[in-house]
Amino acid sequence: MSFGIDDLPVRDELRGKSPYGAPQLDVPVRLNTNENPYPLPEPLVERIAERVREAARQLNRYPDRDAVELRTELAAYLTKTAGHPVAVENVWAANGSNEVIQQLLQTFGGPGRTAIGFEPSYSMHGLIARGTGTGWISGPRNEDFTIDLAAAEKAIAEHRPDVVFVTTPNNPTGNAVPPETVLALYEAAQAAKPSMVVVDEAYVEFSHGDSLLPLLDGRPNLVISRTMSKAFGAAGLRLGYLAAHPAVVDAVQLVRLPYHLSAITQATALAALEHTDTLLGYVEQLKAERDRLVAELRALGYEVTESDANFVQFGRFEDSHATWRKILDRGVLVRDNGVPGWLRVTAGTPEENDAFLDAVRELKKEQSS
Ligand SMILES: Cc1ncc(COP(=O)(O)O)c(C=O)c1O
Repeated sequence: MSFGIDDLPVRDELRGKSPYGAPQLDVPVRLNTNENPYPLPEPLVERIAERVREAARQLNRYPDRDAVELRTELAAYLTKTAGHPVAVENVWAANGSNEVIQQLLQTFGGPGRTAIGFEPSYSMHGLIARGTGTGWISGPRNEDFTIDLAAAEKAIAEHRPDVVFVTTPNNPTGNAVPPETVLALYEAAQAAKPSMVVVDEAYVEFSHGDSLLPLLDGRPNLVISRTMSKAFGAAGLRLGYLAAHPAVVDAVQLVRLPYHLSAITQATALAALEHTDTLLGYVEQLKAERDRLVAELRALGYEVTESDANFVQFGRFEDSHATWRKILDRGVLVRDNGVPGWLRVTAGTPEENDAFLDAVRELKKEQSS
């Protein structure tokens, strides 16, 4: 047997665990990681090159540790799109919203503390909790993947978690959480502890509804987490951010690494924010494609969870992994999230979605013949 992880003196809670691992397979149609299928437009690519060239001239210096220009532009974007005033003091940015979540758990979770999420949901919340030594509590959902409010309130009262995660629209199921439910969970979390409530809005730009940003007013223990990986089509950039009370932004300074956001990242994100209108135009196309996927899958007889995101959960399958493999054999990679009976497909370009729909149509034919 070769020397492996378990032969090293790793922390006990990491023993026998697997890292996050969406397969990165080389297939013609990849619809498995909720990326935006559209490459950045050429004028933006040029603008990034310009901004990065400028930044490169000063790479002998550390970057702006507080990313003030970038946070100012992110605040302006939020103010414009959510119709709610957000100032630079309310915003913090990091390398992807995964790092934002990690910083939040380092600040408000940690050894001897716990966090709760309502599963199935974004698996990294639990994995980052583990990585920061925070105990993880898996809260319940209804059969239709909505949050079972009574059960969630009961779990919060019983476990008194330090951090409550609410993902809306939820990944992998796609459905949004009504604002009244988020408010009720916030009240329950305050009554129990008080604790921080982190609303993960990674997919909110694709939603039929609005951002929950206005709920920040008068709720200092509420945090909204966002990303440029999805709507901005910039997953490779690694830029996530949060909006919250300025005290939350001050608190995460206690755990962030100095100069965590490189000058190159800041320059690239600023260039992308200059092209917000064009990028949000792609979002409209993707929303229409998402709605087409929902309609066509239903017409084929599949069950589909309501989607407010850039992906669709569909089923049901006796053996979802076997179905995942059959779709892959037809050159289309979707996601098997381990939700029994269900698979998830990301909305791609119209051609990619056609290839996916052809594949599942063939499966239906195969079944009925
Ligand atoms: C709900 C949710 N939150 C956060 C993320 C992480 O995004 P980022 O690329 O900003 O780290 C994802 C990525 O898939 C996600 O689905």
